[in-house]
Amino acid sequence: MTAAGKATAVIAAAGSGERLGAGAPKALVEIAGRPILGWCLDAFADAHSVEAIVVAAPVAHEDAVEKLLPEGLAAEVVRGGPTRAESVQAAMAAVDGDVVAIHDAARPLVTAGLIDELVEALAARPEAAGVIAATPLTDTVKRAMEPRPADGPPSGGAAEVARTESRDHLWAAQTPQVFRADVLRAALAAGPDRIAAATDEATLVEEAGGTVLIHPSPAANLKVTTPHDLEVVGLLLAMRP
Ligand code: CTP
Ligand code: MG
Repeated sequence: MTAAGKATAVIAAAGSGERLGAGAPKALVEIAGRPILGWCLDAFADAHSVEAIVVAAPVAHEDAVEKLLPEGLAAEVVRGGPTRAESVQAAMAAVDGDVVAIHDAARPLVTAGLIDELVEALAARPEAAGVIAATPLTDTVKRAMEPRPADGPPSGGAAEVARTESRDHLWAAQTPQVFRADVLRAALAAGPDRIAAATDEATLVEEAGGTVLIHPSPAANLKVTTPHDLEVVGLLLAMRP
């Protein structure tokens, strides 16, 4: 049972970081003098709304993750799975509380303030299944005639514009994403095709019929995917007071 207004954090940190190409799991890569995961754990340890943390760790790196856990808070490491969804499922098996805050270790600029706002926003809306951090799209959005390669721009040729999309209703979803644990567990029981296609937990909760609310978050809650992201996020973290 979770105390009122409290959540268990689930941090998905088990990815290998192929696109970063740092030669080590991304969560353990140092940024501004601290592993990426360490910055995340600091924020969750500082959040008043967080009463426990479960980290899905990269296989064979569980000990390194264990050493980063904050003191004074119930915290546990589980072995991650081959996909992000399987890592979250593995961590959910260790969650005891009613409310869970899912976070990608790849977003080290997350703040305790944002985490607390999301948990409070869900507590204030009993009919909602979840509340997600998201930022308004600011670029003009073009739909191309052809699907683009999964990661990055098309190589060796320009894609033709089919049309320009209105961005009035568009948000870029981030993490943290806070859910009622029973609703998320049911959503994670979706078939393997739907699990594989979903790039965040909110997609599965939406597909299961749950109401998901958008909580505006700072664009600065950036995700580290590429070496360029590592540079930008490193500069922002180094500037922190
Ligand atoms: N993740 C995870 N378990 C996996 C794959 C990903 O816990 N099997 C986590 C990552 O550690 C990351 C988050 O999910 O914090 C978002 O994934 P992504 O940015 O794609 O990280 P990686 O999968 O590590 O990177 P890449 O896709 O470039 O290999
Ligand atoms: Mg990945």
